[in-house]
Amino acid sequence: MLASGTGTNLQAILDEVHGRDGIEVVCVASNKPDAPALRRAADAGVETGVFERAEFADRETRDRAMGDWLEERDPGLIVLAGYMELLSDAFVERFRDRAINIHPALLPSFPGLDAVGQALDHGVKVTGVTVHFVDEGVDSGPIILQRAVAVPDDRDRDALEREIHRVEHELLPEAVRLIAAGTVSFDAANPRVVRLGSGS
Ligand code: GRF
Repeated sequence: MLASGTGTNLQAILDEVHGRDGIEVVCVASNKPDAPALRRAADAGVETGVFERAEFADRETRDRAMGDWLEERDPGLIVLAGYMELLSDAFVERFRDRAINIHPALLPSFPGLDAVGQALDHGVKVTGVTVHFVDEGVDSGPIILQRAVAVPDDRDRDALEREIHRVEHELLPEAVRLIAAGTVSFDAANPRVVRLGSGS
């Protein structure tokens, strides 16, 4: 997994799927040495690695080192759980269809930073959560799961964020379980369309 921040989504994965159904979180990498997510991983006995941008010549070099470190641990899937830096195209290509991200909005609305603030500023009545495959764009890859969250009438940001987090903590483990179960595939006619389950 990759995480830069608080790591509540990482925690949800550790609590809900780690060590079950043959799923194991093998390692957590971060670009932030002080990310609380690293402490959560260590507390769960999961190996951690730090790849700070400043320690490398450029982002591509950092991403290559981080990719090597990840690949040595042989992950079936790379989960971005609040990883707050763009990944280089080479990293995306290397882990094509093997990396997923969670975003606090109903994509393609409100990609990028502060999706909750963007949604509130836009005045939407409904926003939500998206889990998607990672591609070269910003939050633009094929969508795996989405769930709507109603904006409260009083537009209270804290309440909306709490509800979005609650939904995130269900949706990301669910996506990992589906992928691990082998029930996620791409539509042959349109690879933007992710199919869930054998008959869908
Ligand atoms: C989440 O809202 C996620 O959607 C976004 O970054 C946030 C990470 O939160 N990509 P946490 O570190 O998992 O608590």
